Amino acid sequence: HLSVQERIEKKRKAALTGGGQLRIAAQHKRGKLTARERLELLLDPDSFVEYDMFVEHRCSDFGMEADHNKYPGDSVVTGQGRINGRLVYVFSQDFTVFGGSLSGAHAQKVCKIMDQAMMVGAPVIGLNDSGGARIQEGVESLAGYADIFLRNVMASGVVPQISLIMGPCAGGAVYSPALTDFTFMVKDTSYLFITGPDVVKSVTNEDVTQEELGGAKTHTTVSGVAHRAFENDIDALLNLRDFFNFLPLSNKDPAPVTECHDPRDRLVPGLDTIVPLESTKAYDMLDIVHGIVDEREFFEIMPNYAKNIVVGFARMNGRTVGIVGNQPKVASGCLDINSSVKGARFVRFCDAFNIPIITFVDVPGFLPGTAQEYGGIIRHGAKLLYAFAEATVPKITVITRKAYGGAYDVMSSKHLRGDVNYAWPSAEVAVMGAKGAVQIIFRGKENQAEAEAEYVEKFANPFPAAVRGFVDDIIQPSTTRKRICRDLEVLASKKQTNPWKKHANIPL
Ligand code: COA
Repeated sequence: HLSVQERIEKKRKAALTGGGQLRIAAQHKRGKLTARERLELLLDPDSFVEYDMFVEHRCSDFGMEADHNKYPGDSVVTGQGRINGRLVYVFSQDFTVFGGSLSGAHAQKVCKIMDQAMMVGAPVIGLNDSGGARIQEGVESLAGYADIFLRNVMASGVVPQISLIMGPCAGGAVYSPALTDFTFMVKDTSYLFITGPDVVKSVTNEDVTQEELGGAKTHTTVSGVAHRAFENDIDALLNLRDFFNFLPLSNKDPAPVTECHDPRDRLVPGLDTIVPLESTKAYDMLDIVHGIVDEREFFEIMPNYAKNIVVGFARMNGRTVGIVGNQPKVASGCLDINSSVKGARFVRFCDAFNIPIITFVDVPGFLPGTAQEYGGIIRHGAKLLYAFAEATVPKITVITRKAYGGAYDVMSSKHLRGDVNYAWPSAEVAVMGAKGAVQIIFRGKENQAEAEAEYVEKFANPFPAAVRGFVDDIIQPSTTRKRICRDLEVLASKKQTNPWKKHANIPL
């Protein structure tokens, strides 16, 4: 007979080895780390405090009650720890125990840390690697998913929630990551889908591989389900640490401010010539972003999806900011369905978590065509408009070139409560480009060229907006960083509230 102390030690040891050495070896062979190895890389050394190491599943069907089918801690490792000294709650699914499948006990462990994270005010990071519902448990497992989904929804906008998909995530399991703020994936070893290739084949007769259906490339370029993909477990976890540094701990905390070695009044001379003289010529909005932010450091969100808009996190004088920019290099930077939704979700995250938004505008309008109209560009475009309008965080806008039509209004214009709106000398704020405008208002008339020149003279410059106070100043591009850093300092104490409501009704 073992003493209690010996039993405790034995269980702890068993918990630490999960499904055993053979399954750990299999996990490594797949190019994946174990649940615990992952937490070690994600968290500061010795900071992990584990909960529920002794929890076991309670299933007694299909022989599950046998001792050899019980693993202390079951198929998930949970607790809290630190990333660069800042608190975070974590769960890491253990594929070596019943394929990381979700038992009632597994769900209960996840719910426990989510509840505490919300009470304490700290983000939740989930490392997903699971074969889905614990088949032996049936509805118990489904109930567990729903308990997690409910908490994902309750925590939305309260604490940041991040999912990193590091293995399978299929069926109902996908909806927890989908409800979180950011979903990252590991290339080649992770996939997300509602139904796998076999079911797809039997229902729609399509032949598709697991990777094509729900791999990292699919979700970061085609579906927009995932926000970034990383090379392997180590790369993903280290990037996640960097990403975490941008985020406030909760909606009650301000965006973090870190020490900044990049002078706040640094001039960026390259910006004075970055916008081509020819207004149809492209340039890379990322060059502007990199030039302006601290240390050229920009954590782009969805870099390979709807590339006509650029969104991501950076710092200005050490303070986290959200950057939104039209990308003239892709489809002339026009707004379409995917870019509107991408932008809207990002803006809403920033607003929910007190992150100031800096918007760079060079937009020729919304993309025309039946594909866009049939796809519902009206209601999707409305999302971005809505998101900017409702946002009460500091909003700074820089019009670098075109701000045409309804898209001018949408892109964090003065009219949507932009706090500081700048135009560069190259800005053109107008209903549309000169050619199109003249074709309409001087249809069939002679002297089209003359009319076009007149239109350009009148509208293709920053003055019509500036004389009305719709932009606060016309600034030299090289001074943009300096101006924004100063504005952010002033706006740090900004307070603005929206009317009371149960919740708003954003067009979905
Ligand atoms: N419930 C219970 N056990 C599960 C499980 C589940 N949902 N998914 C996997 N497992 C177990 C397997 O029985 C196996 O156990 P073992 O180590 O004792 O042999 C272990 O997890 C690893 O699974 P395996 O199938 O060997 O791994 P794989 O890498 O070849 O395949 C999956 C992984 C996820 C593709 C495959 O296990 C699978 O299809 N699982 C079922 C998915 C599903 O339909 N879930 C329910 C709907 S949400």
